Amino acid sequence: MRTLLAVLALAVASASASTFGWIVGERSPADHMTSFSVALKQNNLDELERRFWDISTPGRENYGNFMSHTEINDLVATDADVVTEVLVFLQSHEGVMCKALSDSLRCVGPIGSLEAMLSTEFHMHTHEETGKVEHKIARATGYQFPVELMEHVEFMTGLQSLPIMRYGRVNPPVMGSNGVDYFVVPSTLTYFYSLENAKGGSMSVQAASEFQGLPGYEPSDVTKFIADTTAQQFEIAKHIGPFNPSTEPESELDAQYIGATGRGNTNWYYTTGDWMYEFAQSIMETPTGIDYYSMSYGWYEGDQCAISPSSQPCESGGSTTFVERTNTEFMKIGASGVTLLAATGDSGAHGRTDGGCMNARVRPAFPAASPYITAVGATQVLDGETGKVQGASFCDSNQCATGGREVTCSTANGALITSGGGFSDVAAMPSYQKDVVSKYLQNSSALPPPSDFNNTGRGFPDVAALGHKVAVWIGGQAEAVDGTSCACPEFAGILAALGADLNKKLGFANPLIYQAYAEDNSAFNDITEGNNKCTEQTCDCKTGFYAAPGWDATTGLGTPNYPKLLAAMRKVMEQ
Ligand SMILES: *[C@@H]1O[C@H](CO)[C@@H](O)[C@H](O)[C@H]1NC(C)=O
Ligand SMILES: *[C@@H]1O[C@H](CO)[C@@H](O)[C@H](O)[C@H]1NC(C)=O
Repeated sequence: MRTLLAVLALAVASASASTFGWIVGERSPADHMTSFSVALKQNNLDELERRFWDISTPGRENYGNFMSHTEINDLVATDADVVTEVLVFLQSHEGVMCKALSDSLRCVGPIGSLEAMLSTEFHMHTHEETGKVEHKIARATGYQFPVELMEHVEFMTGLQSLPIMRYGRVNPPVMGSNGVDYFVVPSTLTYFYSLENAKGGSMSVQAASEFQGLPGYEPSDVTKFIADTTAQQFEIAKHIGPFNPSTEPESELDAQYIGATGRGNTNWYYTTGDWMYEFAQSIMETPTGIDYYSMSYGWYEGDQCAISPSSQPCESGGSTTFVERTNTEFMKIGASGVTLLAATGDSGAHGRTDGGCMNARVRPAFPAASPYITAVGATQVLDGETGKVQGASFCDSNQCATGGREVTCSTANGALITSGGGFSDVAAMPSYQKDVVSKYLQNSSALPPPSDFNNTGRGFPDVAALGHKVAVWIGGQAEAVDGTSCACPEFAGILAALGADLNKKLGFANPLIYQAYAEDNSAFNDITEGNNKCTEQTCDCKTGFYAAPGWDATTGLGTPNYPKLLAAMRKVMEQ
């Protein structure tokens, strides 16, 4: 009998947060094999951080001198004897097999052995909406973290049930037919963001990325989308990860809009069954060749629990370890020259775990709140103008927006979603945004009371793009989709095109983006109207953030003006 530390993880998460649509069923079979990852303690993190900023900040000596994967993995590698010790312990449980990476393990083992190791029970989980079945430890079930692993392991992922959180909503057909609420098509984005001369190039490999086993897009819908909107021709050349064609609206949306704005770039498509830590672990183990990942996923930063030594419930810090470590992984990815973009969420400053606004304190979304990611919020058009869109047959029979005023996307203005934004409770405000965010923090009328958000944290989003009534081809016809999940692939394609037009890989792009803004404020269209006080369900929230001149926590610096942003970035790079 091994010594076990008797710390019990109690589920004190709020009722709405504890189930996330999973129905917990009978006990899992003991011989069912399950895979999991083990995050080991790393070395030289100060040096990693120093080199990361040096590589990512224009004007620094090593700007753009990305490190190889091997170099990064070697720098932070866990001590070899520690890796062996943990590996031997885990594999002493019958049927458990692990592969050692530089600072983590990837393992597989029978549930019976894992139950014995963690003194817990696995149960069958069926997802209410997707029907997906998983064998996991229910979040309400306790476990005992093996004392042998305490010192060396930060957490284990893949063992506990997690919410499935994809952003984006399809408008019911009756919505948006009031005659002033026009469709957003690729031409709309060209008008608003001056994309006429955005060339892009095959050197930028961009990919819509689907997590948690969501299926892929339907190729014939992409073809029809291009034909009906006269988006510039593009092809999705390669699929990485499992691919099942489907008419899942968000997968369709991602594939269509990253291709439409990221014209001329190379399009791939990435899927994984996992969440952020395993994603990062996997692309640092085997680089995919993708330069820009668009991720329209996330949920409350304070609810990212994994099985950890503290065995703490999320609320008392269980989430912080996961978020901090995953942020480190994002830094590794940035140092390797890869750009990550994330949507800020569709339920305003409170997010989906507080959709009813029961709490005064707002809830940041992760990964958008990571300082090492470019976070994208959503806008919508008010007082829209519509006109003929050359050659776009869809716009002959439907009204497509060709102008109007961009405001923060909100259910208060008839959208189905409210753009997320706010401040991290885990990561401190990075220096690249200090000037503009400090200015915003002086405007108390735009902010919740200081006790209801973290004014020393990383502020997000960084940028925004249109996310209401976006025409997406689903099952052969156009549907109107709302979401920061529209804005994220749109901006990802634009950023990847900027990279190609600059003939550079951008890597972690926020220092460049904020420096370009400082060089020329008009490189972004300033969004100064609206707020993110509403959620998807209610506008009865007491707290949220207001749009304001300059950076704000609803739309960041604003939406792009392509030629001006390109010129400003070029100038910054030449300085
Ligand atoms: C606020 O953010 C900082 C990081 O800037 C963090 O250390 C601190 O714990 C956070 N405070 C709260 C109450 O979340
Ligand atoms: C402060 O925020 C409000 C929105 O709440 C905005 O209307 C106003 O212009 C902002 N003031 C400054 C100086 O930015």
